[in-house]
Parts: sequence; structure tokens; C-alpha cells
Amino acid sequence: MKIEQNIPLRKHNTFGIDVNARYFVEISTIDELKTLVSSDIFQNNSYLILGGGSNILFTKSFDGLVIKPNFKGIEVVRETENEIFIKAYSGEIWHDFVMYCCEKNWNGLENLAYIPGNVGASPIQNIGAYGVEIKDVLDSLEAFNFETKQIDIFSNIDCKFDYRESVFKHEYKGRYVICSVTFRLSKQPKFDTNYTAVNDELKRMNVSELSAKTIAEAITTIRKSKLPETSKIGSAGSFFKNPTVSQDIFQSLKTQYPDIVAYPCHPEQSEGSAMKLAAGWLIEHAGWKGFRKGDAGVHTQQALVLVNYGKATGAEILNLAHQIIDSVKSKFGIELAPEVNIF
Ligand code: EPU
Repeated sequence: MKIEQNIPLRKHNTFGIDVNARYFVEISTIDELKTLVSSDIFQNNSYLILGGGSNILFTKSFDGLVIKPNFKGIEVVRETENEIFIKAYSGEIWHDFVMYCCEKNWNGLENLAYIPGNVGASPIQNIGAYGVEIKDVLDSLEAFNFETKQIDIFSNIDCKFDYRESVFKHEYKGRYVICSVTFRLSKQPKFDTNYTAVNDELKRMNVSELSAKTIAEAITTIRKSKLPETSKIGSAGSFFKNPTVSQDIFQSLKTQYPDIVAYPCHPEQSEGSAMKLAAGWLIEHAGWKGFRKGDAGVHTQQALVLVNYGKATGAEILNLAHQIIDSVKSKFGIELAPEVNIF
């Protein structure tokens, strides 16, 4: 374990923001973590856990210790005729792990293909796409508790998952390093291909038999067409959450804007349930899609995604985000909230 000083973080955040960490350390074992927490540098500085850096906006250099967990490995924990429990360590690259499972016909993660980041970050904001969220497939996770210096085990319920939310964003923020996540996958071909975009892409691919791998390939194609390739254009995926409104508010918006896009939050409930508005639609119809000032912009293909064309600072991206929030609020009366972590 080597604690380095004044390390550029540009390559460690997918927004590509050029800031430094005063101290930076990569951790590959629990023993290293235990050594680190008793060190002077840990005890005298604030710290930040940085996984794949795909859901963070740095607005300034971090004057403390950045800890990058790099635990590696994939293990089968147990299996039955129909299910497999598979543990992935937090430093594994999310998409590679998804494809590993798809190749083996272990089903459940395919809709989450091509999401940037590492396994360890996936539960923190309950990543989700195309009708599936981590909470649907997570069995449990192991996390190192900075207070007790012990490993705690969290069940799915303990994580208090919600839309892009978990206990790790709130009461346990900064308290834990996630070391591994165990997923409960199915050996049966039960797939969720209800999204029109997914269905259309599968038809275009002309697949004769659905498999986790073909669905993951379809989703990868869709994501590549809508979301910027972060190796070329910096971004952190969706910058804002899709806001939830009551049925009454939705109906009055719908009267004014008949094309507004929204989905029921709980499709299983009868009419009258809360609705999730497509924030991308609101931002586009407030006139921001494709906007660019300097190197900070709104993606041309998906207005929910803010981008760094090269040298934008975090403050410039944040300033743009605030302008969008104000403009959407004044046009639609809806308050957007960021889903990325802002530092
Ligand atoms: N739309 C527009 N204009 C836009 C973008 C979207 O009108 O510029 C409308 C379209 O009608 C579109 C609808 O909004 O059909 C929904 O768009 P999309 O399918 O791209 O999904 P989203 O709601 O914008 C969410 C997640 C994505 C996830 C997709 C697919 C959030 C905050 N984002 O986006 O997750 O990949 O659904 O399931 O919930 C992420 O979290 O970083 C992320 C990319």
C-alpha cells in the first residue's frame, strides 16, 4: 500500500474534471484497510471513497485522502437448481462482471449492461436501467466499518434501497467501504424486455432465442447511441433524477403540455398513483438539449446528461446544472435534483 501525494484525479472521474487529491491510496485487501485507518494520514485528514468515479462531480481539488478500493475477484457462494449466489469484489468493473454472468446464462443483470463504474459503487445509488435495479438482484453485501474497523454484512433490506437511493447515501454516508456484493441470479430464462427501445433493438438484431447475452448486447447498443462514450466526452450519465409528482400535478402539466413523458411510479397500483416525469423531456423542452458554453454542455442525444467537452471545470458544470434547475422550475414548476454526488 502506497499513499501518494498531489495526484491528478482526471483519470479517476468519468466527467474528466482536472482536480487533484492531496493524498491518494489504492487498497486491495482488508488488512491494508486496517493498516490505513491506523495511519497518521488517515487520522489527520478527511477522506473520500472513490470507486470508478462515474457518479461524481468534483468542483474543487480534494484536500484530504482519496481511498480507491481495488478488491478483485468473483466467486460462486452457493447454488441451487434454479439460482446462483455470486459474489463480486468491489473493484471489479461493473460491465465486465455483467457480461461474465451473461456468458454463463446466469440471468438478472443483463438490463444493467454497459453502466460505467465498479461493482462496489452499484448499491450506493441503486443503479438501474430498463426496468431493473440492483435492489432486484442484490442478496447481501460486505462493507468495512470505519468506526468499528470490522466487516458488517448488509442484507438487501438493510440497504434501504429506493430509486437511486440507499442507506449509504444518507445515514451511513462515508462510514463504510463496500468490499464485495453478492447477487442472487436465476438459471431460468426470465427476462424483462418490456421497454420499447429494448424490444425494438432485439427485433432489429433478429435474435431467434432470447438470452441474457443478446439482451445485454441490445442494451449496450442503445446506451452507446444515447450516452456519450466517457473516454471521449466526459459525463456521469444522468445528471438529475427523474422527479416524482402527484397524479394531480401530472394531470395539470399534461393539460398544458400534452406530449409530456411520464411513467407511473408503481405500475402495479391502480390509477391515481404518483408519476415519474422524464427529466430529459423537461430539460429538452426548456430549450437546453445540445446547449454548450465553453466546454460545459448538455448532451445532444439525451438532455439528462451533462457533458464536459474537454476542459470544463466542475464549477462550470455545476453552474450549468443550476441554470437548468432554475429554468425547469420557472417553466414547469418542477424542482430537479442532481443524482450525481457533488464535491
Ligand atoms: N426524453 C426526451 N428528451 C431527452 C431525453 C429523454 O424527450 O433528451 C424522453 C423520451 O421520451 C424518452 C424518455 O424521456 O423516451 C426516457 O428517456 P430514457 O429512456 O433515455 O430514460 P431516462 O428516464 O432519461 C433513465 C435512467 C438512465 C437509464 C434509462 C433507461 C434516471 C435518472 N436515468 O433515464 O440511467 O439508463 O432510464 O432505463 O433514472 C443513469 O442513472 O446515469 C442512467 C443513465
